[in-house]
Amino acid sequence: MKALVLVGGFGTRLRPLTLTTPKQMLPIAGIPMIEWVVGRLAQYGVDEVILSLGYRPDAFIEAYPDQTCAGVAIRYVTEPEPLGTAGAVRYAALEAGLNETFLVLNGDVLTDLDVGSLIDFHRSRGAEATIALHRVEDPSAFGVVPTHDDGRVIAFVEKPPRDEAPTDLINAGTYVVEPSVIDRIPAGRQVSIERETFPQLADAGSLYAMAADPYWLDTGTPQLYIAANLDAIAGRRVGIQVEAVSGTVAPDANVTNSVVGVGSTIGAGAEVTGSVIMSNVIVGEGAIIRDSILMHDVEVGTGATVVDCSVVGIGERVSPNQAVNAERIPLPD
Ligand code: GDD
Ligand code: MG
Repeated sequence: MKALVLVGGFGTRLRPLTLTTPKQMLPIAGIPMIEWVVGRLAQYGVDEVILSLGYRPDAFIEAYPDQTCAGVAIRYVTEPEPLGTAGAVRYAALEAGLNETFLVLNGDVLTDLDVGSLIDFHRSRGAEATIALHRVEDPSAFGVVPTHDDGRVIAFVEKPPRDEAPTDLINAGTYVVEPSVIDRIPAGRQVSIERETFPQLADAGSLYAMAADPYWLDTGTPQLYIAANLDAIAGRRVGIQVEAVSGTVAPDANVTNSVVGVGSTIGAGAEVTGSVIMSNVIVGEGAIIRDSILMHDVEVGTGATVVDCSVVGIGERVSPNQAVNAERIPLPD
């Protein structure tokens, strides 16, 4: 089976991290997010992944020049302009000549979903498309999907106001799709799978959904990006164990519940907690980094504090004793 992975979005909510690097190429505990997503598909019989590229395609193409990613064969399809989630599926599926049942994945979702059981469910219902569902406390940031008892989708409501959400089951961003869906997507313009295609399939009665309760996280905001990293090092992902600290930590520095990337140094007396420090970062003596993200090549001066979900972009410098509190550096436009 082939899988089409959507990685063409701008990652706006993660700026400034995504000004230079597409979201799915950001590291999760040192390993690019896309490898976490693609790597686990092979066990479900996926023999080729089509990456639907849009924003900064070169970042992917340069990282995987031999067209394998985490041991899986990949093919690149780059959109001429942003086509939206359904437009991207149509464009990439036609470019890759998909003519059998295929998978579609949001490339920024980390999950231990049993894709095999989703495929079985799809086939048992004779569905045209089947969506994996996940239960969340606040569904308003997601696609909300009420179903009949047999899984047939009643409606697909993208990001409704919280008090109008008909259920707490949301679109988990993994779909099994029949080729007939491609014909339903209009050509030549932006089309959202969530706002156009799924509502249309629900009306046709051919859209199904299956709820499950595996590890699941959308990495789209700084808080969730940090959480994805901390989950990875804490062993909350099935079958994966990764190192938290790959850099150098001074003997009397205090690093807890954090990722410290390759080539980074944490100075004497510094405190790092609940944070993601990418590669080649310098944290000066006595600095405090709490619940924040430091991208590659950042330098934090002696005695500075970076706290409360601050995000410091690639190569930026925090001056000695500077206090950075819930800030983004540089400031997004
Ligand atoms: N190729 C391409 N072209 N990819 C795109 C485009 C596009 O125009 N727009 C978005 N993408 C990619 C993003 O890079 C991401 O991997 C995926 O599609 C989903 O886009 P997001 O921008 O992350 O959407 P979201 O998180 O707000 O909502 C989506 O995911 C939720 C689950 O995490 C929706 O599918 C919701 O319904 C869903 O609940
Ligand atoms: Mg997302």
